[in-house]
Amino acid sequence: MRCTIGVVPFTSRQIGPCFAAEVEGLDLRQPLSPADVAAIHAAMDAYGVLVFHDQHLTDEQHLVFSRSLGELEDSYGNNLREADEYRLPTTFADVSNLDKNQQVLALDDRRRLFAIGNRLWHSDSSFKIVPAKYSLLRALAIPSKGGDTEYADMCAAYDALDDETKHLAEDLICEHSQIYSRLQLGFTDFTETERERFKPVRQRLVRVHPSTGRKSLFLASHAGQIVGWPTAEAMGFLKDLIEHATQRQFVYAHAWRVGDLVMWDNRRTMHRGRPFPPGEPRDVRRTTLVGEGPTADQAA
Ligand code: OGA
Ligand code: MN
Repeated sequence: MRCTIGVVPFTSRQIGPCFAAEVEGLDLRQPLSPADVAAIHAAMDAYGVLVFHDQHLTDEQHLVFSRSLGELEDSYGNNLREADEYRLPTTFADVSNLDKNQQVLALDDRRRLFAIGNRLWHSDSSFKIVPAKYSLLRALAIPSKGGDTEYADMCAAYDALDDETKHLAEDLICEHSQIYSRLQLGFTDFTETERERFKPVRQRLVRVHPSTGRKSLFLASHAGQIVGWPTAEAMGFLKDLIEHATQRQFVYAHAWRVGDLVMWDNRRTMHRGRPFPPGEPRDVRRTTLVGEGPTADQAA
């Protein structure tokens, strides 16, 4: 796809099997005009994941670019860091393995173990009543090997379901919590305060994208219940759906380079991080845009 941003044309070249594109000819450090912003949203609607190489943004430029596309989500309380343990302002989700003194977290540090939840397929903030729209992740330091981020196209996965499964899934409501994803890793070490903070929220299983009108599966490892279903049956069904949706023909794997910024639409993709040598720093920082609203009715 060829778009014109201001006077400078930028190109998006598809790099994934059915989605995901690399964008060239755009300097994200420069202010964007309303037409530029519209072209970026259009590219997001077309591809779901956009990769921008060699951007080397500062935190401030990352925030300015993100805010030009929508309202930012605050990340406070989304992890196990205490209030005085944050390395970054909460306009960022700190997806790194670093403490506030830039030291790599110890192997048995519960903040690190909790963050291993990012290696399970998920959609950002599906554990919030209003789940995320876009995520914008930028790499400042990457390990010597591993540490890719993989993305799955949940529209293509939905389209490929048989009619019976589409019908079964259509009106189901799931309950999402970061406790459920961690339970799958055998991580159950939560305080009472944390359990209260991570209370489940409801999300539709099938959602319609507000700008493309396409249906997708709104899945995440945070989903631990289907309303009205026995837990074991719900988990069996959700695991089957995740297995279906993450077959290689629906997946793009991003191998990071320092200076990359990758932006994805959480309303129609899932993603997961891949392992890397735990003693090496991996500094990746994410801004997140809030979605349009809840996907399901629930008590506030
Ligand atoms: C995220 C995330 C995975 C990774 O930033 O939301 O899940 O590879 N990242 O760091
Ligand atoms: Mn994530």
